[in-house]
Amino acid sequence: MEATTTATASLKIGDKSVELPVITGTENESAIDISQLRKETSYVTIDHGFMNTGSCTSAITFLDGEKGILRYRGIPIEQLAEKSNFIETAYLLIYGNLPTRDEMAKFSTLLTRHSMIHEDMKRFFDGYPSTAHPMGMLSSMICSLSSYYPQVLEPQNKEQMDLTIGRLLAKMPTIAAFSYKKSMGQPFIYPLNSLSYCSNLLHMLFAVPAEEYILDEDLDHVLNLLLILHADHEQNCSTSTVRLVGSSQANLFASISAGILALWGPLHGGANQEVMNMLQTIHENGGDTDKYIAMAKDKKSSFRLMGFGHRVYKNFDPRAKIIKRACDKVLHKIGIHDPLLEIAKKLEEHALKDEYFIERKLYPNVDFYSGIIYKALGIPLNMYTVMFALGRLPGWIAHWKEMTESPNTKIGRPRQIYTGETIRDYTPIDKRG
Ligand code: CMC
Repeated sequence: MEATTTATASLKIGDKSVELPVITGTENESAIDISQLRKETSYVTIDHGFMNTGSCTSAITFLDGEKGILRYRGIPIEQLAEKSNFIETAYLLIYGNLPTRDEMAKFSTLLTRHSMIHEDMKRFFDGYPSTAHPMGMLSSMICSLSSYYPQVLEPQNKEQMDLTIGRLLAKMPTIAAFSYKKSMGQPFIYPLNSLSYCSNLLHMLFAVPAEEYILDEDLDHVLNLLLILHADHEQNCSTSTVRLVGSSQANLFASISAGILALWGPLHGGANQEVMNMLQTIHENGGDTDKYIAMAKDKKSSFRLMGFGHRVYKNFDPRAKIIKRACDKVLHKIGIHDPLLEIAKKLEEHALKDEYFIERKLYPNVDFYSGIIYKALGIPLNMYTVMFALGRLPGWIAHWKEMTESPNTKIGRPRQIYTGETIRDYTPIDKRG
């Protein structure tokens, strides 16, 4: 389905007037199409942080930040969280529809068959210090896959593309788990074809050769849930990075590798690690949440309430609602009492009643409670953003695929307004200063 032209908008600059088409999508969101603006007027637009700029049309994910709606390919996130699993959701995002039984079986087999990495790649991990952050390792390893599978450079070959997508989804958990094992100084645990995607990940993360690892179905279930909730979020920073890098016709592995690096930042996926650091600090300092709320409001302090606020959601993040419920359930089931959960709840309760947060429409986001679940699952702090990356992978792939298949794709190349020195002569070094 394409966006349709529904009206025109008039723009007057000096005594020149231009008519700009207004396009509308299937959920009635409208945009002024300025693609001819520079040609017709010599003006460009400027929009710091792309607060008002749509970079593309997309049929993958719909979100309404005012109403707190999130749907993948039209299906509400609440239904997917309750009824689907991560692999099925990945298929839905990438290929547009829920798989039939046959498609699901083929897709699962593809992901199972390709989960090992080339043995030579294991040696790459040796070069990293044990303190290396797994996000840096993950990004480098994913980029390195392009050396082993150069066919990926031909995205127009559908069969090769499907195989490459399968390989990427299959190998990412293995690489993520190996990065973790490297940081722990433990031997790598190979994937097991008898296990489901999430159980295999848990097994590769937590099994050791010295004893049998008993898988817990509840943990598999909650991991599926977390990955589903992270699977796509339309044109966020990392997805836009994947699209921008891919728009130069860089291969899928290179584009995803760049997306991982964008996700690493504390204002994006890195926030889940920062939330836990913040909750831990509050706990160690006596649990005085009022003090930290006051700091978050103080414009002289650089402190922000991590896990709060969102560029698009100006109402509750629907993913945070689901995660909060899961958090209570998981902790209860495992029998853990985590004081950090109590602090998180206190912060939330306070912030939701506070004029500063109400006025700015700041609500808990997906990262606010996810870390508490990761902690309960035994996942170490520096792996939280890696878990986010594993979840976001199908979304990145879906956007890369949609972009490469669209006839409207052009290399991403924004303009700027230059504010530097105007022309001046070169000064020889002995005449400077
Ligand atoms: N704590 C305190 N004040 C905040 C916060 C916060 N977490 N977030 C925004 N504000 C204030 C901000 O200071 C500004 O106030 P004022 O209008 O007085 O200048 C106002 O709210 C608007 O904030 P903004 O920074 O202009 O909003 P943005 O859309 O550029 O930023 C954000 C969105 C998510 C980067 C920001 O809310 C933030 O830094 N949150 C904390 C980090 C975080 O949790 N990130 C994860 C985002 S969700 C998952 C993901 O996308 O990866």
